[in-house]
Parts: sequence; C-alpha cells; structure tokens
Amino acid sequence: MNTPDQLLRSLKSLSGPFQPFDVTQLPESPGALFLQWLNLAIENEVKEPHAMTLSTVDADGYPDARVLILKDVVGEAFYFASSSEGRKGRQLLQNPQAALTFYWPKLGRQVRLRGTVVDMGAEAGAADFRRRSLEARAVALTGLQSQKLEKMDDLEQSLANQRERIKRDPEIVEPSWRLYAVNVREAEFWQGDIHRKHIRIQYHLCDDGQWRYNLLWP
Ligand SMILES: Cc1cc2nc3c(=O)[nH]c(=O)nc-3n(C[C@H](O)[C@H](O)[C@H](O)COP(=O)(O)O)c2cc1C
Repeated sequence: MNTPDQLLRSLKSLSGPFQPFDVTQLPESPGALFLQWLNLAIENEVKEPHAMTLSTVDADGYPDARVLILKDVVGEAFYFASSSEGRKGRQLLQNPQAALTFYWPKLGRQVRLRGTVVDMGAEAGAADFRRRSLEARAVALTGLQSQKLEKMDDLEQSLANQRERIKRDPEIVEPSWRLYAVNVREAEFWQGDIHRKHIRIQYHLCDDGQWRYNLLWP
C-alpha cells in the first residue's frame, strides 16, 4: 500500500493543456480582468467558478479561511453574503482586512485578491436573504451558524420550525444575515504552465487612485 507521501507525489498537478493568457492586452483594472477570466471559466464549464476562499484573521492575528460563494462584482468590489454572528463575522468586526482566492483547475488559473471588507448594512443583507432558496433561508434563520450543535436532531427540529415560519411569513428575514463587500486594493492573476513557466500579473491600487500592474517571477 502507498504511503501518503507516495500517494501524494504520484498525483499530477497543472498537467494542462491550458488556454494562452495574453499579457499584452490587459484591462486597466483588476475587476475587468477578473470578469474576463470568470466568463472564460463559465464557458469552459469550470465547476463552481464562483466558489472562493475567504481568509480572515482573528483578534490574535491567527488566520482562518473558508469557502464562500461570490455574489457580485462591481468595479473592484467583490461581494459575499453570510451570517454576521458566526466566526468570520466576528473576525471581520475586529479586523476587516481579508483575502479572496479562486482556483480553476481546468484552466490552471488562480486569482488572489486582498482588500478591506465592508458590511453593506441591514437592508442589503435582507435583499440578499430574500433571493436565497427556501432551504438556504431556513438554515440561515436558525441564526446559529458556527455555534456548537449538540445533535443532528436539533438541526432537523429547528429547520422544521424555520420552514413553518417562512410559510407563515414568506418575507421573513434573518437579521444577522449580511452582504459584505471586499474592496480590493491588490490582485494577482496567475496562469499556470505545464512547464512551470507560470505567468503572474499583479495589480495594485496606487496613492493617486490609479491601478498599475507588473509581471511577477513565477
Ligand atoms: C462551495 C461552498 C460554498 C459556500 N457558500 C457559503 C456562503 O455563500 N455563505 C456562507 O455563509 N457560507 C458558505 N459556505 C460555508 C462556509 O464555508 C463556512 O462553513 C460557514 O460560512 C461558516 O464559516 P465561519 O465559521 O468562518 O463563520 C460554503 C461552503 C462551500 C464549500
């Protein structure tokens, strides 16, 4: 039987083939390039291209990360929605600096974004909440995201109650649900290469309010 080391080293990564990435035709800002890449990922049927890792830090500077769904991109603001009372919500209240990471294996592409997170407020949170599926609303209405769950039955019981509440009041909203914007100041677009000659483009927001970009060594 293979050891974990043998098993892991036998796995292939970045085996391609990948689409070319033309660095001579870059948009002026990273939001526009992200949308180009996202559209290509969707055209190429990358699974869940809108799933991304949100990294935060807690009050002690200890990092944390989890996968979320990207809800919108407006300029260089990237939106996600979540409970404000779970771990990430508490961490963001103490330290609003965060990173987002996308990886699209089929294209060999990674996008890294860093910025400051802003809570868009109760009304924006409610508007996002109303657009969620019935099941997603029922789970969020438990209002207990990231709390300790004693047993699965407690979840089932609470979900049954929340579905009843939604039936009685279809407009009901979980008050802790929030839409957050990550206002990006730095972005990196990474195109993998089967020979490891990866192409990296880094954008950063300068003090004059302009975006500038440069290549990075692989
Ligand atoms: C593909 C995928 C999508 C997810 N989307 C969301 C989301 O949009 N919002 C959310 O709150 N949690 C989402 N989750 C669950 C989070 O990863 C996480 O478990 C939850 O938000 C609690 O995080 P926290 O304890 O750091 O607050 C998703 C998980 C996966 C794997």
